[in-house]
Amino acid sequence: MASLIEIRNMCKIYNPGENEVRALDHVSLSIGENEFVAIIGHSGSGKSTLMNMLGCLDVPTSGIYLLHGSDVSLMTDDELSDIRNKEIGFIFQGFNLISNLTAFENVELPLIYRGVKKSERTKLAEEALRKVGLENRMDHKPSEMSGGQQQRVAIARAIAQAPPVILADEPTGNLDSHSTKEIMSILKGLHAEGRTVIIITHDNEIAANASRIVHIEDGRITSDSSNDGHLSRDDIARQIKESETDNHPVSGVEDETDTNEFNSDLASTGTVENEVQGNDDYDINDINDSEIDLHLNGEN
Ligand SMILES: Nc1ncnc2c1ncn2[C@@H]1O[C@H](COP(=O)(O)OP(=O)(O)OP(=O)(O)O)[C@@H](O)[C@H]1O
Ligand SMILES: [Mg+2]
Repeated sequence: MASLIEIRNMCKIYNPGENEVRALDHVSLSIGENEFVAIIGHSGSGKSTLMNMLGCLDVPTSGIYLLHGSDVSLMTDDELSDIRNKEIGFIFQGFNLISNLTAFENVELPLIYRGVKKSERTKLAEEALRKVGLENRMDHKPSEMSGGQQQRVAIARAIAQAPPVILADEPTGNLDSHSTKEIMSILKGLHAEGRTVIIITHDNEIAANASRIVHIEDGRITSDSSNDGHLSRDDIARQIKESETDNHPVSGVEDETDTNEFNSDLASTGTVENEVQGNDDYDINDINDSEIDLHLNGEN
């Protein structure tokens, strides 16, 4: 069976030319269904860039991305938008909630854009909020909640429609240790339920929760190891150090040929335009599409 995610020889170059930044340098990575993967690396190593590729939020300069065996570069904007909406739940460090909507409305909003009927939306949004322990905070706005609670709203939003893949970029980066534990236990629960969870972090202790740890440095994968649950943060630090001294990237760097030029116009296309169905509670027109894109796709 094809991997859920298969990346081959992917490069991402920002600002091609004199000041170019090679944020991903021939990355190859396969992720199967129901894996729990941590992608770890220092600031600027290319983690978010990789996440943007995995989430079809941006397109690579070269290389191939197969999702369920289908080449993402051949997909239309509508198909990409469909994937982002149905297949992937995004969680970001900054929560990306809309400040003038309640917790319930924040979770409901993407469902409105996906054309889910009111009764079903209410059921899904309430279930998701219950799942993250916020049944008593449904009518609260983000400013009336703690950081941990806001992130739980963001998780509820990401999981309301049960996407098979959860992509989380530093989901605990703004949280204290108590909230961090809560969020990690929710993510572990989602993995136990059968979801594929990919978490990006610079924190070895967070990474120790995952069953596979992929280390990225200067845009290259420098180690990729399984974790049976017994690795401590120090073990992980040691592994990373060893891989740094070896400095042998494990993913294919031998082929310099750009195998697949992507159409950069696909980058960060709108996900949800023109799909609004009726909403009785608040005026969707008060929130413009770019704001929604920003909050759902984390472009900030
Ligand atoms: N839009 C952009 N334009 C130009 N360079 C960029 C852009 N986005 C990222 N970069 C550069 O690409 C490299 C990788 O950035 P990326 O955001 O992927 O790192 P990161 O590992 O997520 O870092 P952090 O832990 O700080 O979030 C960095 O050198 C960064 O400066
Ligand atoms: Mg980042």
